Amino acid sequence: MRPRNLPHPLPQHMRAVVASRPGGPDVLTVTQRALPRPARGEALVRVVAAGVNRADLMQRAGHYPGTAAVADLGLEVSGIVVSVGPGVGDDLLGREVCALLPGGGYAEYVAVRAAHLAPVPAGVSTVDAAGLMEATATVWSNLYMPDKPVPGSWLLVHGGASGIGATAVQLAAAHGVRVATTVGSPGKARFVAGLGADLVIDHRRQDFADELCERGIRPAVVLDIVGADYLQRNLRVLERGGRVVVIGHQSGSRASIDLEPLLRSNLTLTGSGLRMRPDHEKDQIIADLVQHVWPLYESGAIVPTTHAVLPLERAAEAHRLLEQSHHRGKVLLLAGPGLPPTPESRR
Ligand SMILES: NC(=O)c1ccc[n+]([C@@H]2O[C@H](COP(=O)([O-])OP(=O)(O)OC[C@H]3O[C@@H](n4cnc5c(N)ncnc54)[C@H](OP(=O)(O)O)[C@@H]3O)[C@@H](O)[C@H]2O)c1
Repeated sequence: MRPRNLPHPLPQHMRAVVASRPGGPDVLTVTQRALPRPARGEALVRVVAAGVNRADLMQRAGHYPGTAAVADLGLEVSGIVVSVGPGVGDDLLGREVCALLPGGGYAEYVAVRAAHLAPVPAGVSTVDAAGLMEATATVWSNLYMPDKPVPGSWLLVHGGASGIGATAVQLAAAHGVRVATTVGSPGKARFVAGLGADLVIDHRRQDFADELCERGIRPAVVLDIVGADYLQRNLRVLERGGRVVVIGHQSGSRASIDLEPLLRSNLTLTGSGLRMRPDHEKDQIIADLVQHVWPLYESGAIVPTTHAVLPLERAAEAHRLLEQSHHRGKVLLLAGPGLPPTPESRR
């Protein structure tokens, strides 16, 4: 069975940004590729914007664990469904969507498993929506599935001004959880306070564990992106029965730690990688996001945190921006114009 398209001609080729070889930002080049065809269960999205994630930097450098090809960058996009493959309903055609991808989002078109699409939340621009999927899926799946932080308890979020951190701070605050967070500059401290953080610690000037202990704050959960350097201190600050969720290891993945706090305080040490999860788990995460998180965007309780939007061909600059870490929230690449939003396309 052939894919069904919107009644507009589709091009044969598209522009995509690929890493020509493992290396620094300069290996990113614009290339022509054949237009992907949606397979069974897939939709073809004309990309409006793509999110840039720290994982893209690792993948470009050839350091991403697993099977991700160096070339196929881009874990999330927003755009318009222009074609659907067998097994996907025609009602998706023309819809404005955001999509979670295993890669390939730095392009004008991408074929996506239809279950990994979500509508653009009402009130969010199609461009901003490009930065929602990776962070919300990571934060929601690690903090809220299946256990959730109890309102009034403390959550410690490391790197609160990162794409991930800005989402975690807002989501927890919206659920009545008290949030402590680490950042690396006064400007970032103001940014996360504005997102609802109750306590902000500058990790370049203060030791987060000392700061929390001096105030008698014992988090129920730590969401950690730093890894080795913070692991022992994360265990030290947790309340009895608390859990550390490691989702990144920017300081290194190998740690030698004293296990005693695990036994003494009945702690849980866990972690996960969104990209490595099987499709059926991602299906469930995305269904959960639409049910539980999208209404928070639609009511304005949480907001997208777009720091910069650059054209697709300036992907190298976007990567440098993340490497220098002066950004707050998300950096996006603009691939093409959106449709004017209509109730029909957002339904
Ligand atoms: N496991 C998963 O499924 C998953 C999914 C998505 C992302 N992640 C991980 O989540 C992390 C954030 O991703 P992103 O795309 O949002 O990255 P990002 O926007 O580039 O942010 C990286 C952040 O790390 C912070 N940071 C660096 N060293 C720190 C330290 N010692 N203490 C506290 N914060 C520190 C930086 O803040 P300062 O510059 O202020 O220090 C910066 O805000 C990455 O490690 C990424 O790999 C994991």
